[in-house]
This record gives sequence, structure tokens and C-alpha cells, in this order.
Amino acid sequence: MSDNLTLPAQQSAPDASTETLLKVEGLTKHFPIYGGFPIKRKVGAVQAVDGIDLSVGVGESVGLVGESGCGKSTTGRLITRLLEPTGGKILYQDQDITHASRKQLAPVRSEIQMIFQDPYSSLNPRQTVGTIIKSPMEVNGINPAGGREKRVRELLELVGLNPEHYNRFPHEFSGGQRQRIGVARALALKPKLIVADEPVSALDVSIQAQVVNLLQKVQEEMGIAFLFIAHDLAVVRHFSQRVAVMYLGKIVEVGDRDSIYNRPTHPYTHALLSAVPEVPVEGMEENKERIRLAGDVPSPIAPPSGCRFRTRCWKAQDRCATEEPPLVQISGNRAGHLTACHFPEEPSTEARAEDIVLDPALAALEDSEGPQDTPKDLTKD
Ligand SMILES: Nc1ncnc2c1ncn2[C@@H]1O[C@H](COP(=O)(O)OP(=O)(O)O)[C@@H](O)[C@H]1O
Ligand code: SF4
Ligand SMILES: [Mg+2]
Repeated sequence: MSDNLTLPAQQSAPDASTETLLKVEGLTKHFPIYGGFPIKRKVGAVQAVDGIDLSVGVGESVGLVGESGCGKSTTGRLITRLLEPTGGKILYQDQDITHASRKQLAPVRSEIQMIFQDPYSSLNPRQTVGTIIKSPMEVNGINPAGGREKRVRELLELVGLNPEHYNRFPHEFSGGQRQRIGVARALALKPKLIVADEPVSALDVSIQAQVVNLLQKVQEEMGIAFLFIAHDLAVVRHFSQRVAVMYLGKIVEVGDRDSIYNRPTHPYTHALLSAVPEVPVEGMEENKERIRLAGDVPSPIAPPSGCRFRTRCWKAQDRCATEEPPLVQISGNRAGHLTACHFPEEPSTEARAEDIVLDPALAALEDSEGPQDTPKDLTKD
């Protein structure tokens, strides 16, 4: 790696105790819905992000996971200030940037970069790769030693592309290579934080690991903090030091990686983990039960009262409909491992003896198909 692309030493060595780079408090985005004739007025709102608290330390990588539509991209766009928040606060290095103007944001803009999900639509097809990667430097008036073109060639090499391809166009590259171009563009301004919004979801499975490895290299060697957005827990497992699980605009569980993968306590985290074959959960490697979370996430226009997960939760009781569970540390859990649930699951899934089916229609269908394999009673082992 080129020396002048390496950030100062104090930014490497991510650790849970490192200083906070980004902090969001009560972050909210409600997209208004207009209706009526002849005069249009606001008739409702999509509660895409509804009061989330989250922090990212210097050089730390945090995974943000949840099903499609739960507000992950909106969160990423709020943090990078591509969207204006409806409420809450965004603090970057203790500076309140929630409603900062373009001018006030200018110094921070270069430090927070975004990598987008779709490598096909996020690169301008009429620009050469050189122009694409160079443009953030031009916009921000940055003139690296040796010139911008030299820096672009270094960046191409850094992300595993041929520097000679400087004058080629995006259509000449594969999906994985295009995402590498996106990474090079994000690195051009030496950012301190990259929000990567499902950066590998659109790629072939065989290519995904290569791009994740590249991002991991960038995070570890350059000390860049990441908010890595993904729709399942497998992708962020090796990449994230902490993981936040999101459901319908809220964070339902957050903690260090080991706590989330080995001692999850929110039913939704259990469901997400059980849906990921590659992720063995302590105590259930051999007799892995599946929780089939049936149906879609409810509409964020009219989310369920109380706990938003209650319409799909097998543990729901009356209280879940009337009282929203706060995101708190449950007794026995590590500091920083927070769960929003009135009736949390056992930390490991060992105690759950039956295959849990959340959709009555699916259960009826399976019953009619005759006897199924009886799940082994794990409590007898
Ligand atoms: N510009 C917008 N206007 C109205 N609704 C939006 C807009 N962007 C996103 N949404 C809605 O907000 C919710 C969260 O979307 P998004 O943040 O894209 O979720 P995710 O990235 O987790 O799939 C979805 O219901 C989506 O339809
Ligand atoms: S609060 Fe109730 S509905 Fe929500 S996850 Fe916990 S048990 Fe399920
Ligand atoms: Mg998204």
C-alpha cells in the first residue's frame, strides 16, 4: 500500500474503548405522505427511522442488520447527510451536524463517505474511471503530492485494479470490479468513516468475499471506521466488532459481536441467526432449529403499537401491545449489550426444543403433509 494513503497511527487499532467518532441520538426520519384533492395535504408519514441511538468509535466497524425496508439505507443517508433528519441528533467528533448547512458541512463531508449497494447505477456511465475517482478531490479542491492522476492510479492499485485502466469506462468492468471503483472513490478523500450500504448484496456470491476482504483490509490497515449495512448476519460476522439489529425503524438489539452471535436475547436476532446456515449458534451446532419468520415486515406507515415485532413474535403477550420495550442491558449480559424486549429469549437457543413456525398457514400446510421429522429434544442432552 502506498505510504501517503495510510492514515495517522492513532486512527488504527480499533477497540471498543476508543473515542467516539459518530454518535446519533433519537435519530428520526418520517417521510410525509400527501393526499387529497384538489388541495394536497399531509395525510400520514412513513416512519422509516424512528428514534435510534447508535455510535461508531474511531476505526471501529459496526454492522447494521435487518430485513429489507427496516430503515437501514435511510439511516445511512441521514448519517451522511444525504437526507435531512426529522428529529434527533447527529454528532460527528462531538460536533452537531444534524442540520448543518452545506457550507458548515464542507470540512466534514470529505471525512464521511458512502459506498452504495448497486455498483451498476452508482457510477456515471459517461465518465472514465479516472474522472469518477478524481472528482471528489476536484470538488473538495484537494491536490495530493504528485497530482490527482497519480493518486487515482495508487487508489486503483490499492483496491486491486489495474492502474492502466484509468481511461476505461464503467461498462468495461464486472460488478465486483465496479464495486472496487466505488471503494476507490470513497477512499479518495482519506475518510474517517465509510457508510457501506449493502456493498456486496448485488454481487455474485463468489465475488462477495473478495469485496468484503478488501473492505476489511481498508478498515484494518487504514484505520477507517465503518458502518456496514447488510440484510443478514452472515456478511457482517467477520467484519464487525459490534452489531446493531434493526426492525421497522428501531434498533432492537445491539452489542459486541460475540454477544450478538453467541448470546442473542432478542427474539428477532434469534430468528435472523437461525436463518443463516453458516452462523453456528453456541449449543445448537448439530441440531439447528429454524425459526421461519413468515410474512413481510409490517408497514412503517402504521407500525404495530407497543413492540413493533409483536405481530411476528412467538413470545408476544398483552404487555407487548401496550408498552414499547426500552433498549436496555438485560441482567447477565455484558455492558453495551442492549435489548429491547419485555420477555427476552434465553441467551443461547439451546433451551428452545421445537422448531418455531410463525405463520399459522405454513404450520397448517406442514401438518397436512404428514408427520415431519421430530426435532430432537435438546433439553435432554
Ligand atoms: N424517499 C422516500 N420516500 C418515502 N418513503 C421512503 C423513502 N425512502 C425510503 N422510504 C421507505 O422507508 C422505509 C425504509 O426504507 P429503507 O431505509 O430503504 O430500508 P432498507 O434499506 O432497510 O431496506 C421503507 O418502507 C421505504 O419504502
Ligand atoms: S417485547 Fe414482546 S413482542 Fe416484542 S420481541 Fe419481546 S416478547 Fe416479542
Ligand atoms: Mg437499503
